[in-house]
Amino acid sequence: MAKMAASVLEHGEDAFRKIFKLYKRRNPPPDFSDVIDFSKNLKNDMVFSVELNPSAVSETDACRAGLRPVRDWRAFGLKEHSGFIFISNPFLPGSQQHWVRQCLKTYPQKPNVCNLDMHMAPTETEDIWKKSADILRKKTQGKREPKTLLEKLRWVTLGYHYDWNSKTYSADHYTQFPPDLHSVSQEVAAACGFHGFSAEAGILNYYRADSSLGIHVDESELDHTRPLLSFSFGQAAVFLLGGTRREDPATPMFMQSGDIMVMSGPSRLLYHAVPCIVPAPTGQPLPACLQESQQGTDLHTDGLMQEVPLEDWELCSRYLHTSRVNMTVRQVLGDGQAFPTDTTSRESEGSPKDGQHEQQEQDLKAKKKRNSSGYDLDL
Ligand code: OGA
Ligand code: MN
Repeated sequence: MAKMAASVLEHGEDAFRKIFKLYKRRNPPPDFSDVIDFSKNLKNDMVFSVELNPSAVSETDACRAGLRPVRDWRAFGLKEHSGFIFISNPFLPGSQQHWVRQCLKTYPQKPNVCNLDMHMAPTETEDIWKKSADILRKKTQGKREPKTLLEKLRWVTLGYHYDWNSKTYSADHYTQFPPDLHSVSQEVAAACGFHGFSAEAGILNYYRADSSLGIHVDESELDHTRPLLSFSFGQAAVFLLGGTRREDPATPMFMQSGDIMVMSGPSRLLYHAVPCIVPAPTGQPLPACLQESQQGTDLHTDGLMQEVPLEDWELCSRYLHTSRVNMTVRQVLGDGQAFPTDTTSRESEGSPKDGQHEQQEQDLKAKKKRNSSGYDLDL
């Protein structure tokens, strides 16, 4: 592992912003040699192995959620970021496909909420997958054609639906949290020592090749003692984990398909960002773990995981050639906790910086202005 670039270690007003810009740069492309790659054998003084609790999740329950037995997971911590746990792709071969299809076909469906609902009628956003599938299947690469709804999808909220304007969740905007995602989250949390984790809110982010997510902290949840879970699928991204102050320097790491991050303890409220999606190597647009067959596995026998039909997977895989999907799962309320009755009091407490998602194209038009997708950039 190369020594960390000076800019990464540098303390000072703009350390995070500087490193964000460095990885966001297109021309010339950034040097990724300082980015921690947990999928490789690591020789890095900042990284240590984390022992998870194999008895917290039975092998059967893990398998039901498409996960390997916990004893086989490779988990890491970072010395500078206590409570942060990185689990390098613990999914069983052939099981990521289920989650990808959920993100592209199932979770965007009503009653869940997505960015397109902000400026389209409910009937128009009713079945994004169906409305996009035929057009996408026929699309020829490189040709300029109007974007389908699936290609315009930027975020979906689940459970307690996050309100991007007030930066709050509320009791009266809740729909059932997907049971499969609830289960997998509970198991990952338990393996990391957090028993009784209850997935109550989810934010799914859809990244195209030129997307990024600005520097922010997720602090809108009312109980910060519960971890935040993050699952990534598709193209790899650089993830930056900073400190408690916005200007603190950040550690860059790759998030690859199947990787799970747990932000718990002191790391729960650290600044973080996704400056770029990493271009796939030529000739290998999809990572190998997404090409593993679902056949021959008994993943789909008891209902939690569904086998993805080939025609669905063809479309998912085509979409993922140029995209990344990330699911963040949050517990909003602690045990016995309730939402405050006066929501205005929370807003006056400060300004939570969540959901600062930037998309290149829209950003060109309106820098620092909330864009139509509901995210904004404030670098
Ligand atoms: C978020 C977030 C990170 C990612 O949605 O709050 O930080 O990897 N996502 O997409
Ligand atoms: Mn976040």
